[in-house]
Parts: sequence; C-alpha cells; structure tokens
Amino acid sequence: MQETTDVLVIGGGAAGLSLALRVADNLKVALISKGPLREGNTRYAQGGIAAVLDKEDSIEDHIQDTLTAGAGLCDSNAVRFTVKHGKENIDWLIRQGVPFDRSDDGSSYHLTREGGHSHRRIVHAADATGQAVQTTLEARVRNHPNITVYEDHIAVDLITGRKLGHTSNRCLGAYILDRTSTRVKVFRSRYVVLATGGASKVYLYTTNPDTATGDGIAMAWRAGCRVANLEFNQFHPTCLYHPKAKSFLITEAIRGEGGRLLLPDGRRFMQDFDAREELAPRDIVARAIDHEMKRLGTDYVLLDISHRPKDFILKHFPTIYQRCKEFGYDITQEPIPVVPAAHYTCGGVVTDLHGATDVSGLYAIGEVAFTGLHGANRMASNSLLECLVFAEAACKDILQQSSPDTFEINIPEWDESRVTDSDEEVVVTHNWHELRRFMWDYVGIVRTNKRLQRAKRRVDLLLGEIEEYYGNFRVTNDLLELRNLTVVADLIIQSAMQRKESRGLHFTLDYPTTDNLNPSHNTVLVPPNFAG
Ligand code: FAD
Ligand code: SIN
Repeated sequence: MQETTDVLVIGGGAAGLSLALRVADNLKVALISKGPLREGNTRYAQGGIAAVLDKEDSIEDHIQDTLTAGAGLCDSNAVRFTVKHGKENIDWLIRQGVPFDRSDDGSSYHLTREGGHSHRRIVHAADATGQAVQTTLEARVRNHPNITVYEDHIAVDLITGRKLGHTSNRCLGAYILDRTSTRVKVFRSRYVVLATGGASKVYLYTTNPDTATGDGIAMAWRAGCRVANLEFNQFHPTCLYHPKAKSFLITEAIRGEGGRLLLPDGRRFMQDFDAREELAPRDIVARAIDHEMKRLGTDYVLLDISHRPKDFILKHFPTIYQRCKEFGYDITQEPIPVVPAAHYTCGGVVTDLHGATDVSGLYAIGEVAFTGLHGANRMASNSLLECLVFAEAACKDILQQSSPDTFEINIPEWDESRVTDSDEEVVVTHNWHELRRFMWDYVGIVRTNKRLQRAKRRVDLLLGEIEEYYGNFRVTNDLLELRNLTVVADLIIQSAMQRKESRGLHFTLDYPTTDNLNPSHNTVLVPPNFAG
C-alpha cells in the first residue's frame, strides 16, 4: 500500500507542527508521529523561548550571549539568522494562540532569565511553555484540511533514488511502520522533513521522554547525510533527585529568579567555579555539580528558591511546585535535591540555513539538525527558537521551488519475505539497558580516552548483534529505536574520540584545556555513501 503527499513531515513537536502549518496553505502534508502527537520533547519544555522583545535588549546582545555560551564553535551566520528571526516567530506563535504570560501590569509579555543570557528575554507560559506551544499548534494541525495526521506510525528508513539504483539521490519518501496494523507502508512525497527531535535517550538518566531515540539522525546518516558535533551532549544541571521522578526537570528559570545551588551542608559553591555563579552557562554549572558530588561522595546537591515569596513561586512555577509536592517536597519552604541528566543533542544532521540536508528534497529541522547555532553548548531557550525559525526557513525554501515530479519512479513495497517474528525479545531489552548504562558511565559529563575506547568496543559489538537481528526478524518499534540509538551512540563516541581538547560540553581528563592555538573546528562525520 502506498500513500502519496506533497510534504512528508516526520515528527510532531514544535519543529514539525510549525512546518506543517506554514506549508499546508499551499501543499498537502502527511504528518507522522511514532506515538501520540503530543509525545515529544516539546511538550516538556519548561523555561520558555528566547527572543529579543524588550527595548533594553538588543539583537547584538542575544547574538553575543549565544556565541559566548557556544564556547567558540557557533556559526556566526546561523546565530545571526536565528536571532534576527526571533521576534517574528514569537509573534507567529501568539497569532496561533499560544497564551504567554503577561507582565504584572499587563502592558507586555513577562520575560524571565536563564543561564548565559545578559537580559531578561525568555517569553514563557508559567513553567509549562512547551505544553502551551504543543497543545495550541496541535489543535490547529488537527483542524487543517490539508494536513493528515498519522499517529503511532514510526518511520523505518528514508527512500532515496540511489537506494533504488538511480543516479539522482533525491529523497522520495519513507518506509513507515503502522504500529497498530504492524504493516510497513510506503509514503511517497515530493519533500521529506525530518523533525524527529534529539537522542538523549542514549543516556541512562535523561530529562527527555521515550521518543528521543535519535531516529532522524540515524535515518539521515544511512541515507548519505553528514552529521556534525555529536560529542556535544548537553547535561541539564538540575533534575529532581528521586527514584520515581524519572529525572523530572527543575527549570533553569528557578535559578534565573534567584534560586541558589547549595552543598548538602547548606553552603553555596557556584562562586568557586564561575563569576556568573548559578547563571553561568549550563556546561559549567553541570560540571561544577558533578565535581562537587564526586568530591563529597554525595548523590545530589540542593536547589533552594524558598527565600522568594510563596505567591511568586506559585505563580511562576506551579507545575514544579505541584510535582515536587507529589514527591514530598515543598519548594516554598525547603531546598530540593537535584542532579544533572542528559538533556539536549547539540549536534545532528548537517543543514544549511534553509534546513536543507545533503540529500536533495530532504530537510532536517529542530533538535535533529545541526545548523551551527549552538556551537559547543546550547544556551537555554534557544532550542524552541531554532525549531520555529528553521521551520519558517524550510517552508519558504520548499514553496519557492518548482514541484519536482518524483511520482513516476517505481518504489518497491517493504520486503518481509525473509524475516520471521522474533523469538528472543530479550535481546532488544538487554541491549537497550547495556547501551544506555555504558554511555552514561563512559561517555558522560567527564570523559577520558580509556572510557571512550571501552565504549567503542561495546558499541561495535552491539551494532553487529542488532544488524543481524534486524536482518532476520520483523521490525517492531522497540527494535527500530534500539537500532537507531546504537547508530547514534557510535557516532557520538566517534565524534568524542576525534576531539582532542575540552570545549563546552565535551570535557576530557586527557585533554583538559581548550585548544586555542588551532582555529575552532566542527567534528563532521561523513557516511560511506555520502550523498554530496
Ligand atoms: P520533539 O518535540 O522532540 O518532537 C519529535 C517528534 O518526532 C515527536 O513527535 C516524535 O514522536 C517524532 N518522532 C521521532 N522519531 C520518529 C520516527 N522514527 N517516526 C515518526 N515520528 C518520530 N528548549 C527551549 O528552548 N526552552 C525550554 O524551556 C526547554 N525546556 C525543555 C525541558 C525539557 C524537560 C526538555 C526535555 C527539553 C527542553 N527544551 C527546551 C528543549 C526543547 O524542548 C526541544 O529541543 C524541542 O522541543 C525539540 O523540538 P522538536 O520538534 O525538534 O522535537
Ligand atoms: C529549562 O527550563 O531549564 C530548560 C530550558 C532549555 O532547555 O532551554
């Protein structure tokens, strides 16, 4: 069975929903999400979206703050492009109906602060900004006559000309597993947009939901796209430490509004690491916490906002207040235990400023992409901004092209003639746990050559085992995610091994300083079947 559409959007978070809505007045869209549409990183975003909205603030300051946080590795064109298009994208969200908080006198939007920002510039909906963005855009998408939503459909692989034996390597669509019928269908389209989010599930402890398995990065790599800077995994400094909290995020805006990090004996410590103290960029704060936890042998440090008035806390952080209450903590009265956890994938599929990848007709936008914006460390709340700006840019690029006629090419159905149902699901669950555990232990906040070599040996073994399994058994959601996660883990390890310095989020004891003698460079990995 073959579905046909103009634009196939894989992913239903901020990037995918925005692109779909922007393009759908002109073209037919199929929007695919591997679970319910609401389930992705976007829904969990707390702090907000960075943009220059205050008259005291300036484009130049936002650019400079982003460059500083990025530790010398941001692409200044990408930074300028993103920041310049910030306000118009916030205005677009407001027109879609996103209910951002107003200032106390109601005359403007309330702006909060987060690490690395020299001004208040984060527009937000209390501490549940992602929920507000996701539900507003989702409702619009579901009601748009030109958009068909396919939930519980997971993309298996991209279909390209070269895979079918043609000389042109244009992307022609994707094989998609309908998880309900368990059939793999062909979706053919003139344009394909990867909006599949990041890969933080590769780590044992993460703020991300289960969807963040790097599927888009792995699919693009297999299709012949370059990937870059995958060694820069961002660890968020503050997640609630509780066995049942699943690394629940405690927004950086808490520190932006005066929250203090404390050692278990109540002493502050960030002043020993950076003059910006609790509002230093994330890599610095996460490493400082990791250092103090290892030095003292403690399982957590403390975060305290209880000195602010109760009304203020309840107004700005209602979700966090409520969630902490469920675990027995009252943030208005006491400090809470926090630890770092994997949070954001700064690297990804290499794109230009239109979101276009190395494969023609294939775009990558949002967390899956490497645009050059984040450098060696993403500044807080620049991610949702990037999703919106690059959705707009990719839409413009698609609309200005004359529609390619790709529908003449014959695409074969998915071949299941040589596979059977798995008799050993335990292989998938075992390898899933093993992978995430050794990535956490060996490729985490602090790395060494030896740890990376250990991780590489293990990932090579898993890659072999999983490919064999994939070749013999019918595909399932879990198998596809494990396969993709393992590919991305390998790319992360390879990237980390190539960087012989410490910079931003990549810190290694074997090269503890930043190599300022050599010009800064990205770690670009080129696939064996490179499409360029
Ligand atoms: P996502 O929102 O993750 O969406 C990915 C979509 O792709 C999902 O629909 C998923 O089902 C689908 N998908 C994935 N693989 C497949 C496949 N193979 N087939 C079909 N569908 C697939 N950023 C900020 O700027 N500000 C914040 O305040 C902020 N807070 C955050 C708080 C938390 C707890 C987390 C986890 C992240 C936060 N971030 C924040 C980061 C930001 O939320 C994400 O980077 C951003 O939402 C990514 O959006 P996206 O559209 O690229 O991907
Ligand atoms: C947070 O609210 O701390 C997360 C912000 C982000 O990841 O950009």
